[in-house]
Amino acid sequence: MKIAVLAGDGIGREIIPQALKALRAVEPRPGAFEFREAPVGGAGLDAAGDALPPATLELAQWADAVLFGAVGDPRYDSLPPGQMPGSAIRRLRKGLNFYANLRPVKLYPELRDASTLKPEVIDGLDLLIVRELSGDVYYGTPRGPVENARGEREVVNTMRYSASEIERIGHVAFQAARGRGRRVCSVDKANVLEVMKLWREVMTEVGQQYPDVQLTHLYVDAAAMNLMRDPRQFDVIVTSNLFGDILSDQASMLTGSIGLLPSASFGQERGALYEPIHGSAPDIAGQDRANPIAAILSAAMMLRHSFRMAAEAERIEAAVGRVLASGIVTADLGAVGGRVVGTEAFGDAVAAVLRAG
Ligand code: NAI
Ligand code: MG
Repeated sequence: MKIAVLAGDGIGREIIPQALKALRAVEPRPGAFEFREAPVGGAGLDAAGDALPPATLELAQWADAVLFGAVGDPRYDSLPPGQMPGSAIRRLRKGLNFYANLRPVKLYPELRDASTLKPEVIDGLDLLIVRELSGDVYYGTPRGPVENARGEREVVNTMRYSASEIERIGHVAFQAARGRGRRVCSVDKANVLEVMKLWREVMTEVGQQYPDVQLTHLYVDAAAMNLMRDPRQFDVIVTSNLFGDILSDQASMLTGSIGLLPSASFGQERGALYEPIHGSAPDIAGQDRANPIAAILSAAMMLRHSFRMAAEAERIEAAVGRVLASGIVTADLGAVGGRVVGTEAFGDAVAAVLRAG
Protein backbone atom coordinates (compact mmCIF):
# COMPACT_ATOMS: atom_id res chain seq x y z
CA MET A 1 0.00 0.00 0.00
CA LYS A 2 1.80 3.06 -1.30
CA ILE A 3 1.00 6.26 0.58
CA ALA A 4 2.31 9.71 -0.38
CA VAL A 5 2.51 11.89 2.71
CA LEU A 6 2.25 15.59 1.89
CA ALA A 7 2.06 17.41 5.22
CA GLY A 8 2.50 20.87 3.67
CA ASP A 9 2.56 23.98 5.84
CA GLY A 10 1.56 25.31 9.24
CA ILE A 11 -0.49 22.90 11.31
CA GLY A 12 -0.36 20.39 8.42
CA ARG A 13 3.07 19.44 9.76
CA GLU A 14 1.70 18.95 13.27
CA ILE A 15 -1.47 17.00 12.53
CA ILE A 16 -0.20 14.61 9.85
CA PRO A 17 2.28 12.95 12.26
CA GLN A 18 -0.71 12.18 14.53
CA ALA A 19 -2.54 10.52 11.61
CA LEU A 20 0.60 8.50 10.88
CA LYS A 21 0.72 7.31 14.49
CA ALA A 22 -2.85 6.02 14.18
CA LEU A 23 -2.04 4.30 10.87
CA ARG A 24 1.05 2.62 12.31
CA ALA A 25 -1.01 1.38 15.24
CA VAL A 26 -3.38 -0.52 12.92
CA GLU A 27 -0.84 -1.56 10.27
CA PRO A 28 -1.58 -5.23 9.46
CA ARG A 29 2.12 -6.17 9.36
CA PRO A 30 5.30 -4.09 9.58
CA GLY A 31 6.01 -2.46 6.22
CA ALA A 32 2.48 -2.97 4.86
CA PHE A 33 2.18 0.79 4.52
CA GLU A 34 4.91 2.33 2.40
CA PHE A 35 5.02 5.99 3.38
CA ARG A 36 6.92 8.50 1.23
CA GLU A 37 7.04 12.19 2.03
CA ALA A 38 7.38 15.23 -0.22
CA PRO A 39 7.19 19.02 0.22
CA VAL A 40 4.16 20.96 -0.97
CA GLY A 41 2.84 24.51 -0.60
CA GLY A 42 5.19 26.96 1.12
CA ALA A 43 7.45 23.99 1.84
CA GLY A 44 7.52 23.27 -1.91
CA LEU A 45 8.43 26.88 -2.67
CA ASP A 46 11.22 26.71 -0.08
CA ALA A 47 12.60 23.40 -1.37
CA ALA A 48 12.11 23.72 -5.12
CA GLY A 49 10.75 27.19 -5.90
CA ASP A 50 7.34 25.74 -6.77
CA ALA A 51 4.25 25.21 -4.57
CA LEU A 52 3.76 21.89 -6.34
CA PRO A 53 7.22 20.67 -7.33
CA PRO A 54 7.14 18.18 -10.24
CA ALA A 55 8.64 15.48 -7.99
CA THR A 56 5.78 15.94 -5.51
CA LEU A 57 3.17 15.54 -8.24
CA GLU A 58 5.00 12.43 -9.48
CA LEU A 59 5.00 10.96 -5.99
CA ALA A 60 1.26 11.61 -5.72
CA GLN A 61 0.73 9.88 -9.07
CA TRP A 62 2.86 6.91 -7.96
CA ALA A 63 0.92 6.43 -4.73
CA ASP A 64 -2.26 4.45 -4.20
CA ALA A 65 -3.38 7.21 -1.85
CA VAL A 66 -2.22 10.67 -0.82
CA LEU A 67 -2.46 11.80 2.79
CA PHE A 68 -2.47 15.60 2.65
CA GLY A 69 -2.17 18.09 5.52
CA ALA A 70 -2.73 21.71 4.48
CA VAL A 71 -1.02 24.39 2.44
CA GLY A 72 -0.82 28.13 3.03
CA ASP A 73 2.00 30.28 4.30
CA PRO A 74 1.74 34.02 5.03
CA ARG A 75 5.39 34.49 3.96
CA TYR A 76 4.20 34.07 0.38
CA ASP A 77 1.07 36.24 0.58
CA SER A 78 2.34 38.71 -2.02
CA LEU A 79 2.55 36.10 -4.81
CA PRO A 80 -0.27 35.94 -7.39
CA PRO A 81 -2.97 33.41 -6.34
CA GLY A 82 -1.85 30.95 -9.03
CA GLN A 83 1.62 30.70 -7.47
CA MET A 84 0.75 30.94 -3.79
CA PRO A 85 1.24 27.91 -1.54
CA GLY A 86 -2.53 27.33 -1.55
CA SER A 87 -2.48 26.87 -5.33
CA ALA A 88 -0.74 23.53 -4.79
CA ILE A 89 -3.89 21.74 -3.65
CA ARG A 90 -5.89 22.97 -6.66
CA ARG A 91 -3.07 22.00 -9.06
CA LEU A 92 -2.71 18.63 -7.35
CA ARG A 93 -6.43 17.88 -7.64
CA LYS A 94 -6.25 18.89 -11.31
CA GLY A 95 -3.05 16.93 -11.93
CA LEU A 96 -4.64 13.80 -10.51
CA ASN A 97 -7.96 14.39 -12.35
CA PHE A 98 -9.94 14.39 -9.13
CA TYR A 99 -13.42 15.85 -9.46
CA ALA A 100 -15.26 14.55 -6.41
CA ASN A 101 -14.77 15.50 -2.79
CA LEU A 102 -16.69 13.72 -0.04
CA ARG A 103 -17.00 15.56 3.25
CA PRO A 104 -18.85 13.61 5.94
CA VAL A 105 -20.30 15.78 8.71
CA LYS A 106 -20.93 13.52 11.64
CA LEU A 107 -21.41 14.41 15.28
CA TYR A 108 -19.45 12.60 17.94
CA PRO A 109 -22.02 12.23 20.77
CA GLU A 110 -19.25 13.21 23.20
CA LEU A 111 -19.12 16.62 21.51
CA ARG A 112 -22.81 17.47 21.48
CA ASP A 113 -22.13 20.44 23.75
CA ALA A 114 -19.37 21.75 21.48
CA SER A 115 -21.78 22.36 18.61
CA THR A 116 -22.91 25.89 17.88
CA LEU A 117 -26.44 24.49 17.82
CA LYS A 118 -28.56 23.16 20.66
CA PRO A 119 -28.03 19.46 21.38
CA GLU A 120 -31.66 18.61 20.58
CA VAL A 121 -31.20 20.01 17.05
CA ILE A 122 -27.99 18.13 16.26
CA ASP A 123 -28.09 14.82 18.16
CA GLY A 124 -27.50 12.06 15.62
CA LEU A 125 -26.32 14.49 12.93
CA ASP A 126 -24.86 12.56 9.98
CA LEU A 127 -24.78 14.19 6.58
CA LEU A 128 -22.47 14.04 3.59
CA ILE A 129 -21.41 16.99 1.48
CA VAL A 130 -20.41 16.00 -2.05
CA ARG A 131 -18.42 18.90 -3.41
CA GLU A 132 -17.53 19.19 -7.09
CA LEU A 133 -13.82 19.76 -7.33
CA SER A 134 -12.74 20.33 -10.93
CA GLY A 135 -14.76 23.30 -12.17
CA ASP A 136 -16.41 26.55 -11.09
CA VAL A 137 -14.72 29.91 -10.57
CA TYR A 138 -11.72 28.10 -9.07
CA TYR A 139 -10.66 27.00 -12.53
CA GLY A 140 -12.17 29.72 -14.69
CA THR A 141 -9.92 32.05 -16.61
CA PRO A 142 -9.01 35.02 -14.44
CA ARG A 143 -8.60 38.28 -16.33
CA GLY A 144 -7.03 41.44 -15.08
CA PRO A 145 -6.52 43.54 -13.22
CA VAL A 146 -7.18 45.93 -16.12
CA GLU A 147 -8.15 49.56 -16.04
CA ASN A 148 -11.82 49.96 -16.88
CA ALA A 149 -13.56 52.88 -18.56
CA ARG A 150 -13.84 54.70 -15.24
CA GLY A 151 -10.12 54.31 -14.62
CA GLU A 152 -10.44 51.79 -11.78
CA ARG A 153 -8.88 48.36 -11.47
CA GLU A 154 -11.21 45.61 -12.60
CA VAL A 155 -10.81 41.85 -12.39
CA VAL A 156 -12.92 39.01 -13.78
CA ASN A 157 -13.16 35.38 -12.69
CA THR A 158 -15.40 33.17 -14.77
CA MET A 159 -17.72 30.56 -13.33
CA ARG A 160 -18.02 27.63 -15.69
CA TYR A 161 -19.36 24.09 -15.74
CA SER A 162 -19.97 21.69 -18.58
CA ALA A 163 -22.93 19.30 -18.52
CA SER A 164 -20.65 16.26 -18.27
CA GLU A 165 -18.86 17.70 -15.25
CA ILE A 166 -22.18 18.18 -13.47
CA GLU A 167 -23.38 14.77 -14.54
CA ARG A 168 -20.41 12.86 -13.13
CA ILE A 169 -20.57 14.54 -9.72
CA GLY A 170 -24.31 13.89 -9.74
CA HIS A 171 -23.68 10.16 -10.12
CA VAL A 172 -21.23 10.24 -7.23
CA ALA A 173 -23.87 11.86 -5.01
CA PHE A 174 -26.71 9.54 -5.98
CA GLN A 175 -24.56 6.47 -5.56
CA ALA A 176 -23.41 7.68 -2.15
CA ALA A 177 -27.06 8.27 -1.20
CA ARG A 178 -27.86 4.64 -2.01
CA GLY A 179 -25.47 3.60 0.74
CA ARG A 180 -27.09 6.01 3.20
CA GLY A 181 -30.53 7.63 3.54
CA ARG A 182 -31.44 7.75 -0.19
CA ARG A 183 -31.95 11.50 -0.23
CA VAL A 184 -29.99 14.04 -2.27
CA CYS A 185 -30.32 17.79 -1.93
CA SER A 186 -28.71 19.65 -4.83
CA VAL A 187 -27.57 23.14 -3.85
CA ASP A 188 -27.25 25.82 -6.53
CA LYS A 189 -28.12 29.42 -7.37
CA ALA A 190 -30.27 28.69 -10.39
CA ASN A 191 -32.38 31.77 -9.82
CA VAL A 192 -29.44 34.07 -10.62
CA LEU A 193 -26.62 32.26 -12.42
CA GLU A 194 -26.79 30.67 -15.88
CA VAL A 195 -24.21 28.10 -14.85
CA MET A 196 -26.37 27.04 -11.96
CA LYS A 197 -29.44 26.74 -14.18
CA LEU A 198 -27.52 24.12 -16.13
CA TRP A 199 -26.49 22.55 -12.82
CA ARG A 200 -30.13 22.11 -11.77
CA GLU A 201 -31.22 20.78 -15.17
CA VAL A 202 -28.47 18.17 -15.32
CA MET A 203 -28.95 17.14 -11.67
CA THR A 204 -32.64 16.59 -12.40
CA GLU A 205 -31.76 14.41 -15.41
CA VAL A 206 -29.29 12.36 -13.40
CA GLY A 207 -31.86 12.01 -10.63
CA GLN A 208 -34.28 10.38 -13.04
CA GLN A 209 -31.85 7.47 -13.29
CA TYR A 210 -32.17 6.93 -9.53
CA PRO A 211 -35.91 6.57 -8.88
CA ASP A 212 -35.13 5.03 -5.49
CA VAL A 213 -33.40 8.25 -4.34
CA GLN A 214 -35.34 11.40 -3.50
CA LEU A 215 -33.98 14.58 -5.09
CA THR A 216 -34.68 18.06 -3.80
CA HIS A 217 -33.14 21.42 -4.75
CA LEU A 218 -32.22 24.40 -2.62
CA TYR A 219 -30.67 27.77 -3.43
CA VAL A 220 -27.37 28.13 -1.64
CA ASP A 221 -28.52 30.96 0.59
CA ALA A 222 -31.52 28.96 1.78
CA ALA A 223 -29.28 25.90 2.19
CA ALA A 224 -26.98 27.88 4.48
CA MET A 225 -29.95 28.93 6.55
CA ASN A 226 -31.34 25.40 6.72
CA LEU A 227 -27.98 24.02 7.82
CA MET A 228 -28.27 26.23 10.87
CA ARG A 229 -32.00 25.72 11.42
CA ASP A 230 -32.38 21.97 11.02
CA PRO A 231 -29.26 20.21 9.71
CA ARG A 232 -30.70 16.73 10.21
CA GLN A 233 -33.08 17.26 7.29
CA PHE A 234 -30.08 16.59 5.01
CA ASP A 235 -28.70 13.23 3.95
CA VAL A 236 -26.46 13.98 0.94
CA ILE A 237 -25.83 17.55 -0.22
CA VAL A 238 -24.33 17.82 -3.71
CA THR A 239 -22.98 21.18 -4.75
CA SER A 240 -20.43 23.12 -6.76
CA ASN A 241 -16.80 23.78 -5.90
CA LEU A 242 -17.31 27.25 -4.41
CA PHE A 243 -20.57 26.57 -2.56
CA GLY A 244 -19.21 23.24 -1.26
CA ASP A 245 -16.13 24.98 0.08
CA ILE A 246 -18.19 27.49 2.02
CA LEU A 247 -21.00 25.21 3.20
CA SER A 248 -18.60 22.59 4.54
CA ASP A 249 -16.69 25.09 6.71
CA GLN A 250 -20.07 26.22 7.99
CA ALA A 251 -21.24 22.65 8.57
CA SER A 252 -18.06 21.83 10.48
CA MET A 253 -19.17 24.06 13.34
CA LEU A 254 -22.28 21.92 13.78
CA THR A 255 -19.93 19.16 14.91
CA GLY A 256 -17.96 21.46 17.19
CA SER A 257 -14.87 22.56 15.27
CA ILE A 258 -13.39 22.91 11.82
CA GLY A 259 -10.61 20.70 13.17
CA LEU A 260 -12.89 17.66 13.07
CA LEU A 261 -13.87 17.15 9.43
CA PRO A 262 -11.99 14.84 7.06
CA SER A 263 -12.45 14.52 3.31
CA ALA A 264 -11.73 12.22 0.40
CA SER A 265 -11.08 13.29 -3.18
CA PHE A 266 -11.08 11.04 -6.22
CA GLY A 267 -11.83 10.79 -9.93
CA GLN A 268 -12.40 8.08 -12.49
CA GLU A 269 -8.88 6.72 -12.42
CA ARG A 270 -7.00 5.03 -9.60
CA GLY A 271 -5.74 6.93 -6.59
CA ALA A 272 -7.37 9.22 -4.07
CA LEU A 273 -6.42 12.05 -1.76
CA TYR A 274 -7.42 12.40 1.89
CA GLU A 275 -7.20 15.67 3.78
CA PRO A 276 -8.82 17.70 6.53
CA ILE A 277 -11.21 20.35 5.23
CA HIS A 278 -9.34 23.07 7.11
CA GLY A 279 -6.26 25.00 6.07
CA SER A 280 -2.81 25.59 7.53
CA ALA A 281 -4.12 27.81 10.37
CA PRO A 282 -1.10 30.15 10.60
CA ASP A 283 -2.68 31.79 13.66
CA ILE A 284 -2.06 28.68 15.78
CA ALA A 285 0.75 26.98 13.83
CA GLY A 286 3.78 25.85 15.81
CA GLN A 287 1.96 26.04 19.14
CA ASP A 288 0.89 22.40 19.54
CA ARG A 289 -2.71 23.60 19.66
CA ALA A 290 -4.20 22.21 16.44
CA ASN A 291 -6.87 19.56 16.61
CA PRO A 292 -5.54 16.47 14.81
CA ILE A 293 -8.92 14.70 14.59
CA ALA A 294 -9.69 15.79 11.00
CA ALA A 295 -6.32 14.41 9.90
CA ILE A 296 -6.75 11.18 11.86
CA LEU A 297 -10.25 10.67 10.43
CA SER A 298 -8.87 11.40 6.94
CA ALA A 299 -6.47 8.50 7.47
CA ALA A 300 -9.44 6.33 8.47
CA MET A 301 -11.27 7.33 5.29
CA MET A 302 -8.16 6.35 3.35
CA LEU A 303 -8.17 2.87 4.88
CA ARG A 304 -11.86 2.43 4.10
CA HIS A 305 -11.95 3.76 0.55
CA SER A 306 -8.49 3.09 -0.88
CA PHE A 307 -7.47 -0.09 0.95
CA ARG A 308 -10.77 -1.77 1.82
CA MET A 309 -9.78 -1.85 5.48
CA ALA A 310 -13.18 -0.92 6.91
CA ALA A 311 -12.56 -2.67 10.24
CA GLU A 312 -9.35 -0.73 10.85
CA ALA A 313 -11.07 2.52 9.78
CA GLU A 314 -13.81 1.90 12.33
CA ARG A 315 -11.25 1.15 15.00
CA ILE A 316 -9.60 4.52 14.41
CA GLU A 317 -12.94 6.36 14.45
CA ALA A 318 -13.91 4.58 17.66
CA ALA A 319 -10.53 5.33 19.25
CA VAL A 320 -11.07 9.06 18.67
CA GLY A 321 -14.47 8.71 20.37
CA ARG A 322 -12.89 6.82 23.28
CA VAL A 323 -10.33 9.57 23.83
CA LEU A 324 -13.06 12.25 23.71
CA ALA A 325 -15.22 10.18 26.08
CA SER A 326 -12.31 10.05 28.51
CA GLY A 327 -12.56 13.85 28.73
CA ILE A 328 -9.47 14.71 26.68
CA VAL A 329 -9.90 17.51 24.12
CA THR A 330 -7.82 20.01 22.17
CA ALA A 331 -8.08 23.77 22.76
CA ASP A 332 -10.65 24.40 20.00
CA LEU A 333 -13.05 22.08 21.86
CA GLY A 334 -12.21 23.49 25.27
CA ALA A 335 -15.73 24.86 25.65
CA VAL A 336 -17.05 21.35 26.34
CA GLY A 337 -14.94 21.14 29.46
CA GLY A 338 -12.56 18.28 29.99
CA ARG A 339 -8.80 18.28 29.98
CA VAL A 340 -7.24 20.34 27.18
CA VAL A 341 -4.13 18.71 25.75
CA GLY A 342 -1.84 19.53 22.84
CA THR A 343 -1.85 18.12 19.32
CA GLU A 344 0.92 15.66 20.07
CA ALA A 345 -0.65 14.39 23.30
CA PHE A 346 -4.02 13.91 21.64
CA GLY A 347 -2.40 11.88 18.85
CA ASP A 348 -0.55 9.80 21.43
CA ALA A 349 -3.80 9.15 23.29
CA VAL A 350 -5.51 7.89 20.13
CA ALA A 351 -2.54 5.67 19.26
CA ALA A 352 -2.47 4.32 22.83
CA VAL A 353 -6.15 3.33 22.65
CA LEU A 354 -5.49 1.61 19.31
CA ARG A 355 -2.49 -0.30 20.62
CA ALA A 356 -4.33 -1.33 23.77
CA GLY A 357 -7.31 -2.80 21.95
P1 NAI B 1 -7.99 27.69 8.19
O1 NAI B 1 -8.92 26.57 7.96
O2 NAI B 1 -6.53 27.41 8.10
O3 NAI B 1 -8.29 28.33 9.62
C1 NAI B 1 -9.55 28.94 9.95
C2 NAI B 1 -9.66 29.05 11.49
O4 NAI B 1 -9.88 27.74 12.02
C3 NAI B 1 -8.39 29.57 12.14
O5 NAI B 1 -8.74 30.37 13.23
C4 NAI B 1 -7.69 28.32 12.63
O6 NAI B 1 -6.90 28.49 13.76
C5 NAI B 1 -8.86 27.37 12.92
N1 NAI B 1 -8.49 25.98 12.65
C6 NAI B 1 -8.31 25.40 11.44
N2 NAI B 1 -7.95 24.12 11.58
C7 NAI B 1 -7.88 23.87 12.91
C8 NAI B 1 -7.56 22.72 13.69
N3 NAI B 1 -7.20 21.55 13.12
N4 NAI B 1 -7.59 22.83 15.03
C9 NAI B 1 -7.94 23.98 15.62
N5 NAI B 1 -8.27 25.11 14.94
C10 NAI B 1 -8.24 25.06 13.59
O7 NAI B 1 -8.39 28.84 7.14
P2 NAI B 1 -7.71 30.28 6.90
O8 NAI B 1 -7.18 30.83 8.16
O9 NAI B 1 -8.71 31.02 6.15
O10 NAI B 1 -6.51 29.97 5.90
C11 NAI B 1 -5.16 29.78 6.33
C12 NAI B 1 -4.35 29.29 5.14
O11 NAI B 1 -4.76 27.97 4.77
C13 NAI B 1 -4.49 30.15 3.90
O12 NAI B 1 -3.24 30.26 3.30
C14 NAI B 1 -5.43 29.35 3.02
O13 NAI B 1 -5.24 29.59 1.66
C15 NAI B 1 -5.04 27.94 3.37
N6 NAI B 1 -6.09 26.92 3.14
C16 NAI B 1 -5.63 25.72 2.67
C17 NAI B 1 -6.50 24.68 2.50
C18 NAI B 1 -5.93 23.36 2.06
O14 NAI B 1 -4.75 23.14 2.17
N7 NAI B 1 -6.73 22.44 1.58
C19 NAI B 1 -7.93 24.82 2.78
C20 NAI B 1 -8.29 26.11 3.34
C21 NAI B 1 -7.38 27.12 3.49
MG1 MG C 1 -12.16 25.55 2.42
